[in-house]
Amino acid sequence: MNVTQAIKQRHSTRAYLDKAVSQQQIQSILEVARFAPSGVNMQPWQVAIISGQKKSSLQQQMQTAFEKGDKESMDYHYYPTRWVEPYKSRRIATGTELYTALDISREDKARRLQQWQANYRAFDAPIMLLFFMDPNLETGSYIDYGMFLQNIMLLAEEQGLATCPQGALAEFPKLIKNFLNYDESLILLGGMALGYEDKDHVVNQYRTTRVEVPEFSQFFE
Ligand SMILES: Cc1cc2nc3c(=O)[nH]c(=O)nc-3n(C[C@H](O)[C@H](O)[C@H](O)COP(=O)(O)O)c2cc1C
Repeated sequence: MNVTQAIKQRHSTRAYLDKAVSQQQIQSILEVARFAPSGVNMQPWQVAIISGQKKSSLQQQMQTAFEKGDKESMDYHYYPTRWVEPYKSRRIATGTELYTALDISREDKARRLQQWQANYRAFDAPIMLLFFMDPNLETGSYIDYGMFLQNIMLLAEEQGLATCPQGALAEFPKLIKNFLNYDESLILLGGMALGYEDKDHVVNQYRTTRVEVPEFSQFFE
């Protein structure tokens, strides 16, 4: 598989087979992903790999916190607090596509909520990755981190695995750091579901679109 194929094939996968991914497979992905570039080679990534019993307990805790309405503030703002165009429309289109694929109507708040909550189980993938960063680092390190995350997703493709990057997994930073016994000052950036795609599931059938190159680029000669 070449880079172009891996990039084009990758898509956010929200239903997985009940098939294990070995520690060795994850290790081999991280072995290569760590070659992502970073400013002055800071390598800001810190990854927790959660599976099995640990994953069941953590997702149960998040689910309970969600049901009780125990909202936490995230360690950083992933989304804008005020939505402007064209991002507002793109956000709406993305949600609409997802719910249409699942045949969930606009009024069906219960099923929409259910779908959102599947985030806290990493969509039942066998692996939930969680990404942390030292609070002494600056905005530049978020750029570096993104490259590392994309590496993981492309390497997963190469291994026949699927992923979904998840900002939603940054919604309970205190709960998660407490669960993992991590320093509470660390920044929880989010997470990622990792596993074998359930290719028959409707949620994995649709594909998102992208704006054309001239809409976001300009040549100066
Ligand atoms: C950093 C990041 C966080 C995301 N968070 C979520 C999330 O919490 N839940 C979710 O279902 N999708 C999430 N996504 C997936 C996006 O919705 C998806 O990448 C986008 O719609 C484009 O679709 P594609 O990944 O299939 O190409 C996230 C993507 C990124 C890059």
